[in-house]
Amino acid sequence: MGEKGKVCVTGAGGYVASWLIKLLLSDGYTVHGTVRNPGDDKNAHLKSLENAPEKLKLFKADLLDFDSILAAVKGCDGVFHVACPVPSSSVPNPEVELVAPALEGTLNVLKACSEEKVKRVVVVSSAAAFMMKPNLADDQVMDETCWSDKEYCKKTNNWYCYSKTVAESEAWEYAKKTGLDVVTLLPTLVIGPMLQQAVNASSLALIKILKEGFEEMENTLRKIVDVRDVAGGLKLVYEKPEAEGRYICMAHMVKTQDMVEILRGIYPYYKYPKSFKEAKKTSKVSSEKLQKLGWKYRPVEETLVDSVESYKQAGLLDS
Ligand SMILES: NC(=O)c1ccc[n+]([C@@H]2O[C@H](COP(=O)([O-])OP(=O)(O)OC[C@H]3O[C@@H](n4cnc5c(N)ncnc54)[C@H](OP(=O)(O)O)[C@@H]3O)[C@@H](O)[C@H]2O)c1
Repeated sequence: MGEKGKVCVTGAGGYVASWLIKLLLSDGYTVHGTVRNPGDDKNAHLKSLENAPEKLKLFKADLLDFDSILAAVKGCDGVFHVACPVPSSSVPNPEVELVAPALEGTLNVLKACSEEKVKRVVVVSSAAAFMMKPNLADDQVMDETCWSDKEYCKKTNNWYCYSKTVAESEAWEYAKKTGLDVVTLLPTLVIGPMLQQAVNASSLALIKILKEGFEEMENTLRKIVDVRDVAGGLKLVYEKPEAEGRYICMAHMVKTQDMVEILRGIYPYYKYPKSFKEAKKTSKVSSEKLQKLGWKYRPVEETLVDSVESYKQAGLLDS
């Protein structure tokens, strides 16, 4: 394990960031992690990661406080901007709770990177930034040229999608203006085991399928990716000099009913949805660009089983 230099990861205690930090630390990186409350129990898991005592330093920082971000970025070769509010239900004041931290937060991180002459910034965007458009043709395959329609996001009250779309498009404007080396990764629905205690929004989506006993559920074509493979994708686009632009990060397209049948075969006793109705939208997604860069992902069964085992361990599901 060689020395890999120093990188900053924003939102260190979150679901995706925790796996990224675990991977970076095990690979020899020194990591500056930003958290809003370093003393909070929800960040306790970070301290027990391999190599954390010597190589992980936590910084108290809020995305809306430029100086706090600058202090964490200081001396880093690279930055992974992961932090962003990801709500599990609608929020009363989306402009303040979602749009401001996503947009101003991203610009604060990028400005700090320019000031500190960071070599590359990897910004975590989302499928939310390319999938939300009206009149999608059936079976349309979406790739990195696609963008969500901002007005449509607002009109349909998809404020999370709006916040991710404006944050990513402004990040590209900033990169064009300043020449900062920015790469974005756009994961689809992220599932897989949790390292953190507090359950995050995308894990909650799967937990609900296992325990709510819905009468009927739409048989959506889900686009999923394992959180460990997202961490791998982030490290890959950071390390590969030839990486450029946007990268969709998706491993499997699987219908909800097929996902449930895989789980039911292994865990027959959960309260799965009782019936399914066919979904109208069948658009597809391609992550060929990331695969061509060398990205690998694990089988869907492994992701589903490891997710359930992690929810059981956290007491979120019965054993
Ligand atoms: N999970 C998915 O399915 C998925 C899919 C595509 C993209 N993404 C993107 O992946 C990234 C991580 O998401 P996640 O699933 O890991 O969610 P998460 O567990 O909720 O993590 C979000 C992190 O952002 C931090 N944060 C929020 N507002 C902040 C602020 N004002 N200042 C500083 N930190 C702030 C949170 O810190 P606190 O702990 O202090 O609240 C938390 O650590 C996000 O950019 C998200 O949009 C996620």
